[in-house]
Amino acid sequence: MRIDVLTLFPDMFREVLATSMPGRAASSGAVEYHLHDLRNWTTDRHRTVDDRPFGGGPGMVMMCEPLWEAVNAVEASETSPARRVLLTPQGEPLTQARVEELAAEPRLLLVAGHYEGIDERVIEELDPLEISIGDYVVSGGELPAMVLIDALVRLLPGVLGHADSAAEDSFSTRDESGRPLLDCPHFTRPRTWHDREVPDVLLGGDHGAIADWRREQSVERTRRRRPDLLDPSPRPLDVERSMSRQPDGGTAARGEHSGDGPGDSDS
Ligand SMILES: C[S@@+](CC[C@H](N)C(=O)[O-])C[C@H]1O[C@@H](n2cnc3c(N)ncnc32)[C@H](O)[C@@H]1O
Repeated sequence: MRIDVLTLFPDMFREVLATSMPGRAASSGAVEYHLHDLRNWTTDRHRTVDDRPFGGGPGMVMMCEPLWEAVNAVEASETSPARRVLLTPQGEPLTQARVEELAAEPRLLLVAGHYEGIDERVIEELDPLEISIGDYVVSGGELPAMVLIDALVRLLPGVLGHADSAAEDSFSTRDESGRPLLDCPHFTRPRTWHDREVPDVLLGGDHGAIADWRREQSVERTRRRRPDLLDPSPRPLDVERSMSRQPDGGTAARGEHSGDGPGDSDS
């Protein structure tokens, strides 16, 4: 898999992408990261990427042209098509199901916004999949992009040490109806700590009983902590459908985009 990132702060990524699973994924050849500084596509000597908002108000807005030029140049520099993803708090809430789907893509182009956000017209023109990492706002799309990258690359073949460990994680493990479950609790040595004992079933060596216990714990935890996973309302698909932008602000409907330009350029 190849991941291109368009950002104003490429340095923020370097340590994270060289460490732990993102680093292991790169050194094993499962993923290639290409970081691109959006300022490379500016034309003035101050390398300006933002301007004041029409209509007034606080903050600055990222301008259309540098981002538009950057996406086109990066896509055109390598033949495999890129799936465009914009990190935005107004996007579809990220789920493990979406991570699994994106992990199967050969190439992703991630766009990290900053300031008050990005001029709406270039978002419409680029037509990306819009992803949010949660209902809160952080200062830029860099950390959300890194969250997405980490979640993706640990699913790539050979990246995690134990072949089954991702499948048993929260949200990947599922009940008989295919609904996501939380992981079961885990214990390690010592057997007694602060007068707390490890559950007997885990010490008995009966693998069938252990699997049954873990399953029950998963279901019970999910019921207690995240009942919405068992009875989602609205369901993820409904959220996805409601993300089309027709009604507000005169913005045309858009689907997701699979880019078809060849391309790469690194910075
Ligand atoms: C300060 S935020 C802009 C927030 C925007 N004014 C709004 O209220 O929707 C700047 C950038 O951070 C990123 N960002 C902030 N919160 C995010 C979230 N929850 N998920 C994904 N990206 C986020 C986006 O790329 C966004 O363009």
